[in-house]
Amino acid sequence: MTMRTILTYPNPLLRQMARPVINFDEELRQTADDMAETMYDAPGIGLAATQIGDLRQLIVVDISKEKGEKKFMPLVNPRIISSEGRQIDEEGCLSVPEITSNVKRFRKVIVTYQDITGETAEITAEERFAVVLQHEIDHLHGILFIDHLSPLKRQLYKKKVKKMLAGEARPF
Ligand code: NI
Repeated sequence: MTMRTILTYPNPLLRQMARPVINFDEELRQTADDMAETMYDAPGIGLAATQIGDLRQLIVVDISKEKGEKKFMPLVNPRIISSEGRQIDEEGCLSVPEITSNVKRFRKVIVTYQDITGETAEITAEERFAVVLQHEIDHLHGILFIDHLSPLKRQLYKKKVKKMLAGEARPF
């Protein structure tokens, strides 16, 4: 497995639409494994291929039941086919550093996807797991969680990033 670099805001690749996966081959499985390793190293609980600059409809999510466990699930070409209820939960994103915020999401979603071998499947997710799936599927559409915030909050974050980037550019 190889660690990949996670792209961060405002990298324009994060705004691209991901393409459906057609080839279910060894390379796809390898990419999913790399993404999982990168996610656990970060550490995070979900990662979309877009975040490593791979514009395919592929996400990995952590499904570990116990602490220290590293059990993940790759979802290929995932699509929300049904949703209900509302919940507000705190979110962060490996591609959007230095900010966490409450985001309003569906409380329950049903997602169709293909597994890493191309087999079609369906999963029902609720609460925190539903949040993770909605967040990662958003990435495949070029959407970041900060897009769900109020314009004022988003503006404050953009200013902060500008300052951080300016800071990085300053020679020491
Ligand atoms: Ni994210």
